[in-house]
Amino acid sequence: MKPCVLVVGALNVDLVVAADRLPGPGETVVGDKVERHGGGKGANAAVAAARADADVRYCGAVGADATGSTALDELRADSIDVTDVEITEGTPTGSALIVVDPKGENQIAVGAGANAVADPDAVSSAVDRASGWAGSVLVSTEIRPQAVVAAVQTAVAKGMRCILNPAPVIPEIHGLLALSPIVTPNASELRDLYALVTGDDGASAPVPDMAAEIVTRTKAPVVVTLGGDGVLVVEADGTSTTIPAPPAEVRDTTGAGDTFNGVLAATLARGVPIVEASRRGVVAATLSVRGVGARSGMPTAADIDSTLGSLSPQHNP
Ligand code: RIB
Ligand code: NA
Repeated sequence: MKPCVLVVGALNVDLVVAADRLPGPGETVVGDKVERHGGGKGANAAVAAARADADVRYCGAVGADATGSTALDELRADSIDVTDVEITEGTPTGSALIVVDPKGENQIAVGAGANAVADPDAVSSAVDRASGWAGSVLVSTEIRPQAVVAAVQTAVAKGMRCILNPAPVIPEIHGLLALSPIVTPNASELRDLYALVTGDDGASAPVPDMAAEIVTRTKAPVVVTLGGDGVLVVEADGTSTTIPAPPAEVRDTTGAGDTFNGVLAATLARGVPIVEASRRGVVAATLSVRGVGARSGMPTAADIDSTLGSLSPQHNP
């Protein structure tokens, strides 16, 4: 049976320019053309989970506009159930302006649009309906904060496995940590999260220490994504495991974190333990950076398996 995943988070249309370098303040950079790609951390993760062979429902909000309906068609083309998506009158579909440099690094500005008005009650009902069906719920924070809170609270109340991708870190997360979600920050989000829980703005500590501090709050695994350096998993009992990323051919890192989170959620939904599920996520994220745009490089389950099978023991102990 396929693993079943509910993803709650943002959907955007990404307008992407590949340029020689990222612009500085007040600077103009010029590339060949603007490309349109499907985006948003929630919708991207939903696509990653679906390509990794999960049955996926996506819950979020789009405007009552052509951009929104195209975006939903794209999700349907990846066999994602979009019946829980709210269509907001008078607020446009979210969009993101993205510049990518030759190393695949990016700079992103998001106009949140409909994502920012997602109805917490509708989100809560969607999570409720998914309980009994979904093996995991993935929630990311680029949507209205009250909707994030509603999603995590309902998932936990229903006894569902909940993954919280704090991208970006919002103050509301503080109150959710005691509900024991699996938290998946990148290094800078981990720093923000650490500052939020310790109340120390200038806070800084080594990544493993900051992750361990979050674990004392959640009593659940914290998985820190470290880009080309793979991930660090710190479990509730304090065990920590570094999973290196295999070598990558980097064209565009946009969506790599979303790919990790989507594949992690899909794999955890099958009951696979956190370290092994994270290894699968790392391989998927590494494959995803080959493609331009957030989604084009996202691998199928077969791609992930064959890459896992071909890794040296150092990457696949
Ligand atoms: O994580 C990448 C995503 O962040 C992009 O698709 C963009 O829409 C922003 O949400
Ligand atoms: Na990519």
